[in-house]
Amino acid sequence: MAAPQILPINADGAWLTTALADLRAGHCVAIPTETVYGLAADATNGEAVARIFEMKGRPSFNPLISHVGSLAMAQAHGRFDAASLKLAQTFWPGPLTLVVPRLPGSAVSELATAGLETIGIRMPGGPSRALIAAFGRPVAAPSANRSGRISPTSAAHVAEEFPGQALLVVDGGPCEVGLESTIVRCDADRIVLLRPGAITAQALTEATGLPVVSAMAGTIEAPGMMASHYAPDASLRLNVNNCPHGAAMLAFGSGAGKNRDDALIVENLSEGSDLREAAANLYGALKRLDAEKPALICVEPVPFEGIGVAINDRLARAAAPRS
Ligand code: TXA
Ligand code: MG
Repeated sequence: MAAPQILPINADGAWLTTALADLRAGHCVAIPTETVYGLAADATNGEAVARIFEMKGRPSFNPLISHVGSLAMAQAHGRFDAASLKLAQTFWPGPLTLVVPRLPGSAVSELATAGLETIGIRMPGGPSRALIAAFGRPVAAPSANRSGRISPTSAAHVAEEFPGQALLVVDGGPCEVGLESTIVRCDADRIVLLRPGAITAQALTEATGLPVVSAMAGTIEAPGMMASHYAPDASLRLNVNNCPHGAAMLAFGSGAGKNRDDALIVENLSEGSDLREAAANLYGALKRLDAEKPALICVEPVPFEGIGVAINDRLARAAAPRS
């Protein structure tokens, strides 16, 4: 039976040769990034992009982020105004996606951009950037999970999502950030935040001098903004300090003033209340709790500061009613 093949990033470069051959053949390859693992394919090959949607079981053709290996590659596909360019120069490679007008000459498949006049572009760091630079074209990559499920932050998570399928998974170790990229669009005099992430509103303003506004709730500009998303099987209850008997507990901090004694199982996002550590642990911890098949996962309060805004955003989606 076919199965995912996990290839570690070794000095011998076998991962690079194999991944390049797969991308050139129009296959999907799971790649590590600083945010989450991506299910990548040649963004300029419509059939390859269609395979991504097929593998994920994405119900509708949401636009995908095109990942680039250089700023020049980005500028061959999107038009960067001064603010977008400043953001790219400041935060790339890194966990920031810029939505910019798509250039008419861009070879990126319409399926990847869902026929929009804009394109979402990100330059990831690490080995994936080298892979994309060597490939010479953008790769489209959503998170490497089946649609609606928790994003993978390790190669093993990816393999669990696609049992029985031939898929190369490049193993870059655990993802440093652990949450999907911040997504923004620059207007003339402001930055519109489409999805919160590790690059905070404050950091965006510091880099550009522009105010940041959140996309209005209810106007789905980035379909990842859909209310129910990132969902575990158990239901989630947020801001709980006293865990009811038999529930699973997603804890944050030392536990002072909280009752975890009745919990079936406890996963602590960060004993020392470090929000970056909590972000990196979030999806793995949710998966481990969910694997115990509790009816309910209770989540302790996480402060709305820095990357805590993005953590709370993902928790709210995981807790939202399922349709
Ligand atoms: O960190 C990340 O962004 C990861 C890694 C793999 O790079 N990718 C990721 O992709 O989270 P995905 O497909 O799960 O989420 C991409 C989001 C979607 O909500 C999509 O709607 C939005 O980006 N998006 C892409 N292109 C867009 C566009 N032109 N306009 C508005 N939103 C766009
Ligand atoms: Mg996703």
